[in-house]
Amino acid sequence: MFRIGMLTSGGDCQALNAAMRGVVKGLAANVKDLEVYGFFNGYKGLIYGDYRLLTSQDFSGILTRGGTILGSSRQPFKLMREPDENGLDKVEAMKSNYYKLNLQCLVILGGNGTQKTANLLREEGLNIIHLPKTIDNDIFGTDVTFGFQSAIDIACNTIDCIHTTASSHSRVFIIEVMGHKVGWLTLYAGIASGADIILLPEIPYDIKKVIKAINHRAEEGKGFTILAVAEGAISKEDAKLSKKEYKKKLENSKYPSVSYEIAERIQKETGIEVRVTVPGHMQRGGSPDPYDRFLCTRLGSAAAQAIMDGDYGKMIAMVDGKTKRIPLEKVAGKLKVVEPDCQIIEEAKRIGISFGDK
Ligand code: F6P
Repeated sequence: MFRIGMLTSGGDCQALNAAMRGVVKGLAANVKDLEVYGFFNGYKGLIYGDYRLLTSQDFSGILTRGGTILGSSRQPFKLMREPDENGLDKVEAMKSNYYKLNLQCLVILGGNGTQKTANLLREEGLNIIHLPKTIDNDIFGTDVTFGFQSAIDIACNTIDCIHTTASSHSRVFIIEVMGHKVGWLTLYAGIASGADIILLPEIPYDIKKVIKAINHRAEEGKGFTILAVAEGAISKEDAKLSKKEYKKKLENSKYPSVSYEIAERIQKETGIEVRVTVPGHMQRGGSPDPYDRFLCTRLGSAAAQAIMDGDYGKMIAMVDGKTKRIPLEKVAGKLKVVEPDCQIIEEAKRIGISFGDK
């Protein structure tokens, strides 16, 4: 018997199913008597013993299906060591379910928070394989995460649609792209769809510079301006606040999100009409694009090989076009951010894209 467990945790994204399919196909073709247990709704399923033995039917026809057949939930890492409302020790409960099923290993698909708990379980002695999922592309140690490309496609498509209507009106359009802590998605979608101004969490903006860029376009006879703004974009003034102060400011803010505050300030200063579009969770929805299906099939197959080799405690990453096993302890808790002086930003600035900083 070759018995593994599997779960998907955190915010979902496209290609979770494609990745699970890759792992299971890679194992099924190479080991005897494979049994795959799926835990439902992320770590919740592992904590509370909500699981089912999956069959090959479960993994059939899911390469192109969005979401996750196992469901997902957010279980904050910082609360993992705290007992639940009934006093249950969550870590001990997860270990107990793992051992009860006599699992050879547990395959965990998720982002940064998920990875921290995966590493905790590794430290507790479980055999873990992690697959890097998130539309944010912010997992340290892998060049790319799955979900990122599919989300770029959607964010880009949104900005493309806004572009055509923008060209009919002399307005400023803001498209708010997902990403609270990092701006990879906004950066890629913004550049790929020809945004004029891109605001990222990593590069605090000066509203005067943003307005200067808008006015500059107007002076050049360009009637409209498109801003791609990350959910976590922050002004230079706000960047000076402590984390606690900024959190409080956001909690008490009259604006539904940062884009609406930016919109009001632009409108007040310039008198130009501003419109905000927030594609929100659409960016995580729908089918994975071919790139993500390809990526996940490779990552899944590489994960299957790591499992067959008994090489646990690893994230299966993509580095320089090759799959690579990265020790979880080397990456857990680290964030891959956009460096303000990186080549992408430099090249974008060269063609006139403003990041609201200069
Ligand atoms: O981490 C993925 C992500 O989609 C972020 O880009 C976004 O800020 C966040 O999740 C939204 O979380 P939730 O789905 O819990 O609202």
